[in-house]
Amino acid sequence: MDLGLTGKTVVVTGGASNIGRAISQEFAREGARVAILDRDAAQTRKTVEEIKGAGGHASGYDLDVTDVDATAATIAAVERDQGAVDVLVNNVGWNGKAEFFLNLPPERWQKAFQLNLFSTLNVTRAVLPGMVDRRGGAIVSIASDAGFGEFRMADYGAMKAGVLAFTRTVALEYGRYGIRANTVAPGLVVPAPDAVGDGSLWSIDIGMGPKEVQNIESRMPLRRRSEAVDIAWSVLFLASDRARQLTGQVMSVSGGFVMPR
Ligand SMILES: NC(=O)c1ccc[n+]([C@@H]2O[C@H](COP(=O)([O-])OP(=O)(O)OC[C@H]3O[C@@H](n4cnc5c(N)ncnc54)[C@H](O)[C@@H]3O)[C@@H](O)[C@H]2O)c1
Repeated sequence: MDLGLTGKTVVVTGGASNIGRAISQEFAREGARVAILDRDAAQTRKTVEEIKGAGGHASGYDLDVTDVDATAATIAAVERDQGAVDVLVNNVGWNGKAEFFLNLPPERWQKAFQLNLFSTLNVTRAVLPGMVDRRGGAIVSIASDAGFGEFRMADYGAMKAGVLAFTRTVALEYGRYGIRANTVAPGLVVPAPDAVGDGSLWSIDIGMGPKEVQNIESRMPLRRRSEAVDIAWSVLFLASDRARQLTGQVMSVSGGFVMPR
């Protein structure tokens, strides 16, 4: 199946490391022009060079996606350099160590809000007016299985549930302009060490050792955890015209760990 992504301009937030990196690589492999918006400049350069080395088209933009003015300016720069944005992937997200709700300080809720939910609204707001003018576009936002409610993930899960609701609302309001908005909810994706930079949450200890990973894996019907590329393949499909009749949907890529209804 040809996904028809050749020549499309694709923005991937947090596209330098782990899941975002795989998403960027797979879009580039399909012939898309990929703009990586990430605040880890060194890792962004590395990923851009890897993609170019493989014959793909990618550019990096240094951005903190929680900064409203800088985000608007960066999207304007992307459109000037790469052409109008056809696809937006809201991939930036963050979670801290798993903890019971009463052990989570409000400062951590704030960080979870900024990096998971505020960032998604902010970048979408910068891209959407152009899509409305052009009467088309696809938005894929990365949520999490925790967004359906997960033990010791109260702050993160609440924000990811917000991403789901926001995506459905965008789908409802802007479908009439030919814009589709969907969500991919990854299960656990532990990156290879060379797939992440210092900006990745995996560069510090988040309490996800081999025992924790094995425990999660054993509860997955498919008995294997996801790889970053598994998430990327679902994102590419949802972003493509082959998914033209899909909007407001959520796809859990978790080996069946969660089965959303
Ligand atoms: N890895 C998993 O197991 C898992 C599971 C479920 C959901 N998710 C979600 O998938 C997405 C990607 O996760 P990951 O594991 O690849 O994360 P990661 O931390 O490895 O990578 C995140 C990327 O975003 C960048 N970034 C962070 N804050 C930023 C900011 N303010 N502005 C711009 N760039 C910023 C980082 O530099 C990094 O390149 C997140 O939304 C996460 O919540 C991940």
